[in-house]
Amino acid sequence: IKVNPTVIIIFGGNGDLTKRKIIPALYNLFLENRLPEQFAIIGTSRTGFTDQKYRDSLLEGINEFSRTGKAKKEAWAKFSSNISYQASDIKDVASYNEFDSKISTLKEEWKQDPSILYYCAVSPDLFCTIAENISKSKLDNHKETTRIIIEKPFGRDLESAKALNTKLLTIFDEKQIYRIDHYLGKEVVQNVMAFRFANTIMEPLWNRTHIEHVQISVTEQIGVEDRGGYFDHSGILRDMIQNHLLQLLCIIAMEPPVNFDADLVRDRKVDVLKAIRKIVPGTIDTMAVRGQYGPGWVEGKEVSGYREEVDVAPDSNTETYAAMKFNIDNWRWQGVPFYLRTGKRLFKSASHIIIQFREVPHNMFNNGEQNVLKQNLLIISIQPDMAIRFQLESKIPGLEMNLNTVDMVFDYSAKTKIDAPEAYETLLLDVISGDQTLFMRADQVEAAWEVVMPVLDYWKKNTMNNFPNYPANSWGPENAEALIAKDGFHWINLP
Ligand code: BG6
Repeated sequence: IKVNPTVIIIFGGNGDLTKRKIIPALYNLFLENRLPEQFAIIGTSRTGFTDQKYRDSLLEGINEFSRTGKAKKEAWAKFSSNISYQASDIKDVASYNEFDSKISTLKEEWKQDPSILYYCAVSPDLFCTIAENISKSKLDNHKETTRIIIEKPFGRDLESAKALNTKLLTIFDEKQIYRIDHYLGKEVVQNVMAFRFANTIMEPLWNRTHIEHVQISVTEQIGVEDRGGYFDHSGILRDMIQNHLLQLLCIIAMEPPVNFDADLVRDRKVDVLKAIRKIVPGTIDTMAVRGQYGPGWVEGKEVSGYREEVDVAPDSNTETYAAMKFNIDNWRWQGVPFYLRTGKRLFKSASHIIIQFREVPHNMFNNGEQNVLKQNLLIISIQPDMAIRFQLESKIPGLEMNLNTVDMVFDYSAKTKIDAPEAYETLLLDVISGDQTLFMRADQVEAAWEVVMPVLDYWKKNTMNNFPNYPANSWGPENAEALIAKDGFHWINLP
């Protein structure tokens, strides 16, 4: 598609996100000829830099973090000639006039009105300030061409999320607001839509008649690293479940949208969130389990417990692990539990969705001592492995009718993995071309908060006296197993 010339103003232009994700993504889009012919990137933060110094620091970021490896000299020279830096005070309206004059110069040079993207890669308490100052300084705010990009967290509870949405919506239209949940940009996550809705054989199976339960698991080996200050006020329920994991649940559980229209797709996801059975006080301990990691050994190295991490309170009650059970009250999913779990400092980093199908109605095989058939699984591996596999029972070749479990698998080849765009590439290209399908709408964000609020409130009121309750490098607290075991299932850890 032909896209407008584009100006991207990055607030937090000197921050980690800009260096690790945003600039490498834009650079890779540039390499693939996906950026508009005329574009400008203006980084801004408090620190004073010359353009050259700024570009050099971004180059370091690319060399370290880009999926395509070190920057190529010529390409970088071309790409970076479109980058400039502007020191500014986000809170001061006067700073915004400087952007205005830069934009005017570009307009004259390009002889065309550009799209303008304001990227808030800053701490969330500044989102509203930026929006207000854009509005006060009369910076361009054309409904068709001006967009604001914000990163999670969108609020820290339902109330603050609503307040944030209300504020943003006094200045921008919903169509101008791009709330990023980077899980939606991941290659395999996008493929779930194709897998479900481009194949006739899935739909008849995709319901309570055939599916017994669903597991969504995002485990991380890393701890909180240098983000203790943020994380200790957040916790994993806010950091991961409210957004990434619930979005994965929506993609599995949603009804087919009529087409890829951004609002139609998001309507169907909101339907799912609204159908999730409200977790009522008194039942919370049977629906949600939390954990906090203690010290341990990871790959031969001793690592600290959460409470010993930088910027974490020594008596912190913040959870670094959570497992939850959800019921979805609609025709498709009645009686099919969805189990979600995520945590830091776990045994392995892996994100996957496992759909377990029901038992065969009658077992006619004499299959070993226990004589049970393994239930079919559909395993959607998001990262680091990228694959979709069906586990089926099959006859072992030979004279007897003995069975074992085999995989029917679509495995992304090593090459595809390297070539697959990073989530931020997909998402930034979508912002540039004005496609909101993979972005969170205000009502989606609020509906997701509504789902987790009872648990957040309960956990806040009832502190844990046995934290830390799992050692680093384990699969989490023991009662996470109990949460799923009481329904007759167990967490499936992939090899
Ligand atoms: C972020 C969370 O949104 O997602 C982090 O704030 C987490 O705590 C990260 O580590 C995980 O993302 P990914 O893409 O590495 O799985």
